[in-house]
Amino acid sequence: MSPNPRPAALLPSSTVHPTSTVVTGIGELTTNDPGLGILHDAAVVLEADRVAWVGESAVAPAADVAVDVGGRAVLPGWVDSHTHLVFAGDRTAEFEARMAGEPYRAGGIATTVARTRAASDEDLEANLTAHLDEAVRQGTTCLETKTGYGLTVEDETRSARIAARHADEVTYLGAHLVPPGADAESYVDLVCGDMLEAVAPYAGWADVFCEDGAFDEVQSERIAAAAAARGLGVRVHGNQLGAGPGVRLAVRGGAASVDHCTYLTGEDVDALASSATVATLLPACDLSTRQPLAPARRLWDAGATVALASNANPGSSYTTSMAFCVATAVLQMGLTVREAVWAATAGGARALRRDTGDGAVGTVRAGARADLHVLDAPSATHLAYRPGVPLTWAVWRSGERER
Ligand code: NIG
Repeated sequence: MSPNPRPAALLPSSTVHPTSTVVTGIGELTTNDPGLGILHDAAVVLEADRVAWVGESAVAPAADVAVDVGGRAVLPGWVDSHTHLVFAGDRTAEFEARMAGEPYRAGGIATTVARTRAASDEDLEANLTAHLDEAVRQGTTCLETKTGYGLTVEDETRSARIAARHADEVTYLGAHLVPPGADAESYVDLVCGDMLEAVAPYAGWADVFCEDGAFDEVQSERIAAAAAARGLGVRVHGNQLGAGPGVRLAVRGGAASVDHCTYLTGEDVDALASSATVATLLPACDLSTRQPLAPARRLWDAGATVALASNANPGSSYTTSMAFCVATAVLQMGLTVREAVWAATAGGARALRRDTGDGAVGTVRAGARADLHVLDAPSATHLAYRPGVPLTWAVWRSGERER
């Protein structure tokens, strides 16, 4: 690798991207495209917000701007398909108590709900964009985020409205917790009725936390059905704190993903393996809540589609680092580097149903969105070989150089 010819610097988000850029000197290019595979001595041409050409560096077409990455490894940008970034406040004290032996409880969500309701629109938006910038600087180029810390019609709607200004995908999670003091059945009526109507214009997805202490199977099924009838795609938080009905419910209802999957029975694994529902694993959350790590190897070997995501939120998983999730999946969950990188890019794209067609994410091929992540390393293996080392060297998101 040649020395870094351009010190990493965050360009203002208003930077206008040139018409075309050719990125040459790629030592190892992970394309996630079955026809292209992993390329060496490769180049990629970006035109506006799309990938226009992928091939050998020696025969790369000219472009307005040329960037030689000096033998570094290039991946598709991370696709973080599960975050909760519309929030206010932090939960350091809860984390400290957990590290001293207290268990994680779904009820901790209520602390953030109170802080979020009390925050101004400006503060919520500033907090979201600060965390989004933090993620992009680490190579995330497509990010989903959820409501779920408002839990009133007004607060859920403003959370979704703010999220829609910044995130690639917005998920309605009015069914995160029954707010303290509310009657559960009346709250489910609201989530399926007025709240859904108000939030739907800002969201493409709906989610339900199907777990003891949150929503039971019958309630969850009702919420998922109402959201689907309103035209939203469905995802489920399931099997996070114990074996339960989440995976079954998600597969039965054709959900795009079921997220967490920490406690799975053999039937759950079989059901995922024979369905199009993606198993989205959240290793940073498993570690931060002192749960066992999700059975990634078992799922992969059974034929399930596996995604990795950060679950960035102030309670159970306060990190935006997809590289940390990938390193954990390799070092502690039994995936190979190739599998873990696929899960954090193409797997996330599949979970968001953005993996095919014009503008697909999680892949580097002609017609895909121009999202590249350049590592300051000769191969993707360094993500696990050098855990904890910040390896992001450059990022293009929708054709704009962000770092
Ligand atoms: O995915 N499981 C539910 N929701 C979040 C936790 C949010 C919180 O604790 O504030 C999760 O872990």
